[in-house]
Amino acid sequence: MKNIVILISGRGSNMEAMVKACAAEGWPARIAAVISNRPDAAGLQFAAAQGVATAVVDHKAFPDRESFDAELARVIDGFMPDLVVLAGFMRILTPAFTRHYEGRMLNVHPSLLPAFPGLHTHERAIEAGCRFAGATVHFVTAELDHGPMVAQAVVPVLDGDDAAALAARVLKLEHRMYPAAVRWFVSGQLAVEGARVRQLAGESQSFS
Ligand code: GAR
Repeated sequence: MKNIVILISGRGSNMEAMVKACAAEGWPARIAAVISNRPDAAGLQFAAAQGVATAVVDHKAFPDRESFDAELARVIDGFMPDLVVLAGFMRILTPAFTRHYEGRMLNVHPSLLPAFPGLHTHERAIEAGCRFAGATVHFVTAELDHGPMVAQAVVPVLDGDDAAALAARVLKLEHRMYPAAVRWFVSGQLAVEGARVRQLAGESQSFS
């Protein structure tokens, strides 16, 4: 049984999709803990109600990123993770932290990387006149919103879309794509070959 530790900052709908998929699909893994940097993250309640261990490491209690990340890693490692999953975890991570979890930490980013790393991705895609937008699951490296890409999901940008409408369309696909990507990892079905990640069982890494 592999241990998955999920980090959230808010709503936690991707985490919720994963907790449900893990149970429904019988992954060779368990959600060992859900950890938030915000004490009021709504997702903590869902996790606790499912019997999943929860913890809070409040970034506001630390003087700098280094000390926050060190404590966060200490708490994560207490759950013996095989995989750390960033699911709407809105913190920039230090190189020491990303190095510690290299090859065993995934993130979902709401854009078709390498376009639009950083914040406000949907606004930026609309402003740029993009006809397609989406989300990317990738291995986390020291560079923000970079790293080998495990899967991508694409949706159309419709005339009249605002950021909220586009975000909702993308999020629906995140809820299919991200649990699949995590299942692949815990099933040993991913091979990282430079920037390219291969799904060894032949499942599609493109979602639409
Ligand atoms: C998701 O759309 C995710 O792609 C995004 O935050 C949302 C979290 O929703 N992540 C980032 O912007 C990371 N930089 P959720 O809390 O309901 O899963």
